[in-house]
Amino acid sequence: MSEQSGSSQGRQERTELPIERGFPIERVNEIAAKEGRAKMYYRPIYTMHKWWARRLGCVFRAISLYTMLDDPEKVSVFEPGHEGSTLASYGDDADGKSDFDVASLLERVDMTDPESLWELYPKDVRVEDKKILDPFMGGGTSLVEASRFGAEVVGNDLNPVAWFVTKKELEAGQTDVEELEEAFEQVKEDVADEITQYYKTPCPNGDHDADVMYNFWVRELDCVSCGHTVPLFKDYRVGKGRYGDNKGTYSVFCPSCESVVSVDDWQNECACNECGNSFDPSDGNVGRGNYHCTDCGQKYSVTDAVAEQDGYGLSLYALEYYCGTCDDQGKERAAVKGYKRAEKVDRDLAQEARKEWEEADELTQFVPQSEIARGAITESSSISGNDLFQHGLEDWTDAYSPRQLLCLSKLLQSISEVENENVREYLLMAFSDMLRTNNMLVGYEHSNNHINHIFNTNSFDVPQAAAEANVWGTEYGMGTFQSIWDMVISGVEYASAPTERWVDDGEKKETPEFAKPIGENFTLSQGDMRKLDYEDEFDAVISDPPYYDNIIYSEVSDFFYVWLRLILKDEYEWFEPEYTPRTESIVSNPSEGKDVEDFEMELREGFEVVHESLVDDGVLTFTYHHSDSESWGELLESLCDVGFEVTATYPITADLHKFISGEAVSFDIVVVARPIDDTEPASWNSLRRDIYRTARRTRTQLEENRDLSRGDIGVMEMGACFHEYSKHHGKVQRDGEIMSAKEVVQEIYGIIQEASDIGVEDVFIDLLDTSNPSFDDVNKLCRGTNANPEDLKETHLYNQDDGFELGTWDNEKRRAYIEERVNGEGGDHLSDLDKLQFLRYRYEKGKAVQNYVDKWGVDDDLRELAGRLADVTGDDAYTRVLGDRDITSYGE
Ligand SMILES: C[S@@+](CC[C@H](N)C(=O)[O-])C[C@H]1O[C@@H](n2cnc3c(N)ncnc32)[C@H](O)[C@@H]1O
Ligand SMILES: [Zn+2]
Ligand SMILES: [Zn+2]
Ligand SMILES: [Zn+2]
Repeated sequence: MSEQSGSSQGRQERTELPIERGFPIERVNEIAAKEGRAKMYYRPIYTMHKWWARRLGCVFRAISLYTMLDDPEKVSVFEPGHEGSTLASYGDDADGKSDFDVASLLERVDMTDPESLWELYPKDVRVEDKKILDPFMGGGTSLVEASRFGAEVVGNDLNPVAWFVTKKELEAGQTDVEELEEAFEQVKEDVADEITQYYKTPCPNGDHDADVMYNFWVRELDCVSCGHTVPLFKDYRVGKGRYGDNKGTYSVFCPSCESVVSVDDWQNECACNECGNSFDPSDGNVGRGNYHCTDCGQKYSVTDAVAEQDGYGLSLYALEYYCGTCDDQGKERAAVKGYKRAEKVDRDLAQEARKEWEEADELTQFVPQSEIARGAITESSSISGNDLFQHGLEDWTDAYSPRQLLCLSKLLQSISEVENENVREYLLMAFSDMLRTNNMLVGYEHSNNHINHIFNTNSFDVPQAAAEANVWGTEYGMGTFQSIWDMVISGVEYASAPTERWVDDGEKKETPEFAKPIGENFTLSQGDMRKLDYEDEFDAVISDPPYYDNIIYSEVSDFFYVWLRLILKDEYEWFEPEYTPRTESIVSNPSEGKDVEDFEMELREGFEVVHESLVDDGVLTFTYHHSDSESWGELLESLCDVGFEVTATYPITADLHKFISGEAVSFDIVVVARPIDDTEPASWNSLRRDIYRTARRTRTQLEENRDLSRGDIGVMEMGACFHEYSKHHGKVQRDGEIMSAKEVVQEIYGIIQEASDIGVEDVFIDLLDTSNPSFDDVNKLCRGTNANPEDLKETHLYNQDDGFELGTWDNEKRRAYIEERVNGEGGDHLSDLDKLQFLRYRYEKGKAVQNYVDKWGVDDDLRELAGRLADVTGDDAYTRVLGDRDITSYGE
């Protein structure tokens, strides 16, 4: 090990990466705010298929940029839109002074100004010889973004659905869109008419058929007292009027004559203009888990009735239609698209579909036969509070209507016949994603006229009214096969010529197309990442590991898996099992008997594997949640235990004001960690001082140079403090005992939250630790603290009369000042520092100290300050003057 001084002791020489020095969170957040609301528009590659808790692409693009660029020799920058030509002003600029010199862009990144490298965010940047791993790739965001920089990317996930989705994202750049379009046309020819015939209804405005966008069903139960069939309406809204005179009105269902009528105010008593019945459309008959009979008023629990009556009944009560014929005739919008009552023909059509389905034995192989596995999400639990079984669901097919099963199986059969495997898989992906809008757990949002898909929450909800969508789709309506396919096509097109959208001076911008497609060099695997056995292979691991019980991926993903499996099990062995893997899943999940500690242990095992897989000077950059100091301590502890040092942390979502006031609050964070050979012993007293100083320096620099909230600054301070700590992990002594990382985190929290505690004494100690201090140092060290140079001057902690001198215990002016106070009337105004310096002086002169010690008493603060002074000066007389007696027995 090289002999180096100060903070770099015990570490090999290595390049400090841009992300360890600074990260432009302001710029990233600016884009994230917009991208989060328009993902489809920013990066359609990620809207081809649902994955839970996907990170935004802009976050991983920025992380990639700041993590992978280290050697300017191996970076080339292309101007998007200019095929293959390196920008002369970038890269090998001979005089090295150009603003666009990569070496200088890299060099200039620091905490106070991380933005130099940001200039490359909208450029087509390529790095050579970088190999990146994400062992928890999920929806593949990290890999897609890293691949755009030309890195070789390797990904893994336990979940086969994640594997499939990411694979299709990374293959998209090499996929021919025309081939996809042709195959879609073939499937369309094959089954579109057969499917759409089941979504027709008489147009209310002419003698022809209209297309059904949605069939609205209400769940029903019998009254336990009178036997009456009770539809479970929370309220009677069908949808909000959108066009012309309709605007602002509501279509509501009249419970008396069952027609759909328009009312101006759905929240008050109205008269039905069909039958004259007077009713309040907002007043339904189900709420808080109970329903009451519309006939006799009997009240009863919904779930009890479901159990006793073997599930719900379903009744079709309204439809939303679109009429192409009326549209072609130029009729007004309100006539072309609207709500209507359900008639006998509509019920008959559903019945007909049911009949066909019941007789279509050859199609059953195209629907899953699996039961819904019991688990923390599917079964009533503390996690979601929903329970599919209590709502009468047992098999996955119970989530669909017979018409849906008929149409879905026909469609899947047709897809299975597509010859080209790659093309077939894109169709299959569209099919899979479409399932979440084509099942009977989908509800309808009356106030914005659209359906909500089933994963609005990360669990399964069973709404009382279901919106059964048109599987193939018509001109309008979301989540249909047709519309999801369009999204897949956009994703594939984007993959071969991606662009970047960013914000420049408040203005939204978009680059021309990049010449580099997504994902040219990738390898993916499925399995428990703890079984990966890479050794010294990767330059960086860029990832987003699981977080406690945030999402139970195995359970929610079964929803897609049981269908995908029908087609993929013959191709890929990981689609053979009936369900997605549960036991190896890193998560806290009560239904697997895994608690918080199990999760923490599993994640630690994961970090160990990550450590193994990295080259010596590799880096781990990952996103994580932050919710409380305890989970933070845990994270730091496991990273350090497996041989990492944390070198920086950054917040990536706003609203951190609570963090600084110590309230529990959760936000996302980026953690940067690097392998470390060995740690150095340190006393808590001296480390604490370093941490104080680091926190203060970080704060001052950030406050002075950047426009960040206190909370944002707090997170970065924390990263800097972690960095100080991790160099000494496992070897920090306090009162003869080794401190755990968790204890240190608690302390760091205290230090950061009470940053304003930094006062005169701390500054003075820092001055003692500065070689040849000057007035400049006083000034600098006071910034961002409670102390100001004036305070120090008045108390003679420094004097400038004959050049700069520090007010140490043996400094004459300082001594005179203290003595005057000790002997004067204001004896009780002595500061701890005054006292200690006074005692130190008497000790030197062999004078008695005990009487003063007795008089003043020794508390923790005094003892601690003595320790810090002893530490920084190497003079333990400071602690000796206080004696060995402990505080409690003192004075007895
Ligand atoms: C937070 S998600 C990743 C999300 C991803 N970054 C994205 O943007 O979509 C974590 C992933 O870890 C996976 N996972 C959980 N346990 C695992 C294990 N033992 N081995 C590999 N992957 C695992 C889950 O399936 C999940 O996809
Ligand atoms: Zn009526
Ligand atoms: Zn009744
Ligand atoms: Zn019509």
